This record gives sequence, C-alpha cells and structure tokens, in this order.
Amino acid sequence: MTPDAALAALRWLAEMGADEPISETPVDRFLASTPREAPRPIPPASVGRAISSAGAPRAEAELSARESAAKARTLAELESTLAGFDGCALKATATRLVFADGNPKARIMFVGEAPGADEDRQGKPFVGVSGQLLDRMLSWIGLDRSTVYISNILPWRPPGNRAPTPAEIAICLPFIERHIELVDPAILIMLGGTAAKTLLGTAEGINRLRGRWMDYSSQGLPRPLPALATFHPAYLLRQPAQKRDAWRDFLTVKNKLKTVL
Ligand code: URA
Repeated sequence: MTPDAALAALRWLAEMGADEPISETPVDRFLASTPREAPRPIPPASVGRAISSAGAPRAEAELSARESAAKARTLAELESTLAGFDGCALKATATRLVFADGNPKARIMFVGEAPGADEDRQGKPFVGVSGQLLDRMLSWIGLDRSTVYISNILPWRPPGNRAPTPAEIAICLPFIERHIELVDPAILIMLGGTAAKTLLGTAEGINRLRGRWMDYSSQGLPRPLPALATFHPAYLLRQPAQKRDAWRDFLTVKNKLKTVL
C-alpha cells in the first residue's frame, strides 16, 4: 500500500468512527462473528409496543432494559446489571462501561449526554476537555467531585463521538432513570440538549429549556425533583460567549442549594 492510500484508508476509518487503536493486535471481527440467529419471538408484553418488525428488537431491548433496571436495589447492582446488558449495540464498540463519578450521597446530580474518547478509556464521565471545563464551572459555585454526582444518558461511547440515535437513547433511558432514583438527589442538573430533552420528555431545544427550574418525576422517586438544564460544557468550548448564561445558570443552582436539604 502506498503512503497516500494508507492515509486515505485511515481517514476513512476515522470518518466511520474507528478513531483510535484499542489494542496492539488487530482483530478480524468478520471471522469472529457467529452466524446470525433466527429472530427470537417477541415476548407478549412487548407486542403492543412493536410498531413494525424493524421496531421489534428495539421494543424488546427497551422492555428488557426497563425490567432489569427496575430490579436494581443499589447503585452497585445497577452498575453490574448494566455491565451485563446486551440490548444496546454501543456496548460492542465501546471500550468499557462509563457508569458515574463523584459522591453518590451528594445533594446534586449532573447528567450529561454520553462518554467521549477520554471517558471511554478511563471509565469515568467528564474526564476529558469538557470535564475540565465542568470542573471549573463547579468551582464557580464552590463545588467539586466530592460534593456532586455525575453520570450520562448513555453509559457507552457512540463511535467517533457521533450523536446518539433515538433508539440508543430509548434503550438506555430506563437505566439513567433508575440511576437517578437510587441516588435520589435534592436537585438534578441536565447538561445539554440531549440530557434535558430525554429526561424531561420534550422536543424543546436547550436555548428554551435552560436556566429555569422544572419538575423531574419518575415512578420510583418519592417526590418530583427540581431540575435545571444548562449548556453542555462541550458546547461552551465551541461557543465561549454563552458562558455568561451558563454562569447565570450556575448562580441559580447555588441559590437553590441553599434552600434544599
Ligand atoms: N460529554 C458528556 O456528555 N459526557 C461525558 O462523560 C463526556 C463528555
């Protein structure tokens, strides 16, 4: 192969999302893959949710996610349930599960979108450049990782940091919902449009959602949580002028923290 052809092949791989070597030895996934199984019958409880035969595996995965997440009684159980869950294809391309960071007893929980390359390598949310900005934002209001708890809508990295698909989000949603129930924070902060839209179940954009308190409810929470959406740190890195609004949002959070347990 000529150097130009090798470079073109590398560029193509990066565009497809294979943007970092995971081990020294290549693995031929075509050889490793087993022949496709015949489609499994859909369990009766999910039949009503399957819109078409193409939607059936997603409905099945959502149902299985909801059932397994509901069984978790502790964060450790939820983490091991997630680690054993095979219903989301992102697990196969990610290096590892990224569950959470910070203090599970904190009064404030942050939820972002999905791990990036650094998080995928280290197994913790927000440890890359956006995490560094998040740490600075926390310090604006006297917080740090010992006084907050952090997780993401998706626990696995989408290849090449592409946006998560609606199916991936729907399949992983029961886990983050259960995660929030088990932490049961006094307040919930949603970082960016994906977290806000997913948890609030709305199609409104982050510009309209941010900066005001809304109620976040779920079946297993004893009461609705005050929830606030703000800009995602990765967006602030691209649009630093918006930090002024993010600063306002964080002051709103600081004031709220004075009034909660
Ligand atoms: N962006 C996120 O939304 N979450 C992370 O953990 C890292 C970057």
